[in-house]
Amino acid sequence: MTSVIELQNIKRHYVMGGETVAALDGVDLTIDQGEMVAVMGPSGSGKSTMMNMLGCLDTPTSGRYLLDGIDVGTLSDDQLSRVRGRQIGFVFQGYNLLPRLTALGNVELPMKLNPSGRNRREAAMAALIRVGLADRASHRPSELSGGQQQRVAIARALVNEPSMILADEPTGNLDTASTGAIIELLQDLNHRDGITIVMVTHEEEVAAATRRAVRLLDGKILSDEPVAQRLTGALAEAAS
Ligand SMILES: Nc1ncnc2c1ncn2[C@@H]1O[C@H](COP(=O)(O)OP(=O)(O)OP(=O)(O)O)[C@@H](O)[C@H]1O
Ligand SMILES: [Mg+2]
Repeated sequence: MTSVIELQNIKRHYVMGGETVAALDGVDLTIDQGEMVAVMGPSGSGKSTMMNMLGCLDTPTSGRYLLDGIDVGTLSDDQLSRVRGRQIGFVFQGYNLLPRLTALGNVELPMKLNPSGRNRREAAMAALIRVGLADRASHRPSELSGGQQQRVAIARALVNEPSMILADEPTGNLDTASTGAIIELLQDLNHRDGITIVMVTHEEEVAAATRRAVRLLDGKILSDEPVAQRLTGALAEAAS
């Protein structure tokens, strides 16, 4: 297997009023194509900072990030945004949908930023079908439940056929039943389509749906261990 992600001694320091915060303090991490990984740790431990690095939304203070073997530190802004557009799908806790656009319109959006030869409407519809929301294509976000909005956001992440999805607390705003549905969908995208998934979560039972949990503390990796495949507590109840 090839490593799709390789962080080498990554540091990200913020200087705030003369004080330096080490949001990431020497992180080494390798993730293979096709893995599904949970990123855990207390508030302020550096999870979102690390996700921003992985998604090429931010650059390290020092260290190297190899994405598909390419040192992203050597890429221009244009090249970086192309990598983001083509290879990476982003999913956020708050869905980040545009309220004036329909579900279909939201899913089409990344294709406008990243034109390809494909028919936009067809590709967006295919992504909505993939997440089970074909019948909500013309609804606006305010006419959808939280779980449905997150599925639209996942369809939007899928529309450019990325090799990797980065999700920062994708179930943070959802109830147990919707959480179960979103996690099942992400698992299916991982298992069936081989998409690499890195997902921040605060919930052990969500992490248990992945195969590996990376735990951060104070900007450092505290542990990096396989997770036994199991459903516990409320998620098991929802699934049974
Ligand atoms: N733009 C910024 N400017 C200054 N400090 C920042 C900035 N972004 C993050 N930090 C600091 O870096 C540290 C890590 O923040 P980060 O957002 O990565 O934490 P997190 O693990 O995602 O937390 P949470 O679980 O609350 O989302 C924190 O101490 C935070 O205050
Ligand atoms: Mg965060």
